[in-house]
Amino acid sequence: MSETYVSYSRTGVVGTITIDRPRALNALNPDVLAQLSQCLTEAEADKECLGVILTGAGGKAFVAGADIGTMRDLPPAEGLRFAELGLATLQKIEDLSKPVIAAINGFALGGGMELALACDMIYASPKSKLGQPEVKLGIIPGFGGTQRLARLVGKNRAKEIVFTGAMYSAEDAAGFGLVQAVVPEEELLEYCTSLIGKIGRMGPLAVAQAKRAINKGTDLALDAGLAIEKMAFMSLFGTYDQREGMTAFMEKRTAVFKGE
Ligand code: CAA
Repeated sequence: MSETYVSYSRTGVVGTITIDRPRALNALNPDVLAQLSQCLTEAEADKECLGVILTGAGGKAFVAGADIGTMRDLPPAEGLRFAELGLATLQKIEDLSKPVIAAINGFALGGGMELALACDMIYASPKSKLGQPEVKLGIIPGFGGTQRLARLVGKNRAKEIVFTGAMYSAEDAAGFGLVQAVVPEEELLEYCTSLIGKIGRMGPLAVAQAKRAINKGTDLALDAGLAIEKMAFMSLFGTYDQREGMTAFMEKRTAVFKGE
């Protein structure tokens, strides 16, 4: 039985997943990834949870990367398995029907930055440092960094980040659109909580379909993306929430959504 490194908790509508392995700056080894996956399953199943904050414990790091000790002696086939485990775990974040916000307070490097890239939004405290230092170790990002990063910040900026292995301040990262906002350390969790509270007052089915349409559609040609949007739009008609949202508007009152 491994130690507990990742936990899920909920206050009101806000779920929080905390990675807590401070002696290795929350580095992702197979146990951490398996527990993160389990916590995401819990968050998905938790009907009261309308959004998740993903953060790192210990005050120094969000996640300082995939665990270098785990990777050092891996032959190629095992390296592939490790990448597949990481990719599958991060894909669960993208596929979660609820928004997931990365709250970065410290180092978000390598697999840690890739973890944040799989989230729907990224907020960081001023002391945070972000980067993809894999080339310094003789490897490349393996948990989606070459792909999600290039899609978010553009191909050439992604190449600069990945080829140099440089660390960027939160402010720099905000400047090129990787981080949505830089928030003082003591306000970071409250900021993310309040954002989920705001999203939580919207129709949950609508938010889930919007997330899906944006995630699935942005990698496709425009007409294929628009087809995904059209089907997602249609799927909301006839739901309780669609009737309630529109009826509430017409009756000039606040909608009470059920996620049905
Ligand atoms: N894996 C394993 N252990 C790690 C780690 C990692 N990614 N990052 C930090 N640690 C460990 C250190 O080995 C150290 O352990 P000991 O106390 O037992 O020596 C402990 O965490 C504290 O770290 P430092 O003493 O190095 O702390 P620092 O403040 O001097 O430096 C740091 C902080 C700049 C983040 C530095 O720890 C560092 O460079 N870490 C590695 C970052 C990195 O290269 N990440 C990418 C990993 S590869 C990857 O992620 C591949 C992928 O895409 C899937």
